[in-house]
Amino acid sequence: MSFRLQPQPPARPNRCQLFGPGSNTKLFAKMAASAADVINLDLEDAVSPDDKPQARRNVIEAIGDVDWGNKTLSVRINGLDTPWWYRDVVDLLENCDERLDQIMIPKVGCAADIYAVDALVTAIETAKGRQKRIAFEVIIESAAGLSHVEEIAAASPRLEAMSLGAADFAASMGMQTTGIGGTQEDYYMLRQGQKYWADPWHWAQTAIVAACRTHGLLPVDGPFGDFSDDEGFRAQSLRSATLGMVGKWAIHPKQIALANEVFTPTQAKVTEAKEILSAMEDARKTGAGATVYKGRLVDIASIKQAQVIVRQAELIAAGE
Ligand code: COA
Ligand code: MG
Repeated sequence: MSFRLQPQPPARPNRCQLFGPGSNTKLFAKMAASAADVINLDLEDAVSPDDKPQARRNVIEAIGDVDWGNKTLSVRINGLDTPWWYRDVVDLLENCDERLDQIMIPKVGCAADIYAVDALVTAIETAKGRQKRIAFEVIIESAAGLSHVEEIAAASPRLEAMSLGAADFAASMGMQTTGIGGTQEDYYMLRQGQKYWADPWHWAQTAIVAACRTHGLLPVDGPFGDFSDDEGFRAQSLRSATLGMVGKWAIHPKQIALANEVFTPTQAKVTEAKEILSAMEDARKTGAGATVYKGRLVDIASIKQAQVIVRQAELIAAGE
């Protein structure tokens, strides 16, 4: 066991991140009125190259003009492999209202990518006398990003969250898939002629969760493209929550309630967690480090597991 304590991630709800293209101004008020915890106004792949300058202007205006309530407000800039990203950062931070909370950096491949954006953001904040320090969230969506995930998670004190971007990740890895996240038809085991599907995203998700938990970031599952498939979205979200992720993107408003439901611990789970804490408190009073709860062993590690659920429920309740 390392003597270094695991840092806590930012204490804010991040169950659902709703995306909308910066070029589609009609969506902004609807996004603000939604039940998503985080709003991501997009300047990247949902905006065509010709629309980039106008989308930037739209986003800058909307940050100040729209009432975003108590949501975390984020803008996804273009990747560092494009000619657009520096102007995204410069125009945004020289001109937008202090209401902006975060910049999302896509297709991050190494810690130096974060360093470059951090240097630019720091210079603009100082030059313009901005009071609120902009936070960063990043998307791991390439082979390089996943290979360097731990150094990326450690790259800047501005970092608050990290998402898996399944579609770009699959392309970068050369995976033979076309869907954005979820079950992949060809990824199965055979036993006695029966197919048993497995989860091709599992390893990438687990690597992201480990890097995030090591460095105190929020691990988030990215998009699920088939917004007609509620059960598929729910199944993917349940797997992500089970692995330690705190939320998921929504690329359509109908995914918001599904994400909020899955990433809010159920009352039954919270009650059970509190009962475990209380059983362990009773055990502690008698000098025991382990006891029996509903016929199964609970011990000091169970306290930490139960605290994860209770803490998550408390911070979601505090944000409502
Ligand atoms: N945020 C808020 N509201 C949204 C929305 C979003 N992202 N997407 C759609 N809506 C609204 C529509 O305006 C419509 O509202 P109305 O009932 O008042 O007319 C309602 O939800 C139903 O929309 P629907 O007709 O089913 O979808 P659409 O054809 O208008 O749009 C998409 C479908 C996928 C193009 C659109 O949802 C979208 O742009 N999503 C975000 C894509 C994105 O940002 N991707 C980048 C990250 S991967
Ligand atoms: Mg992407």
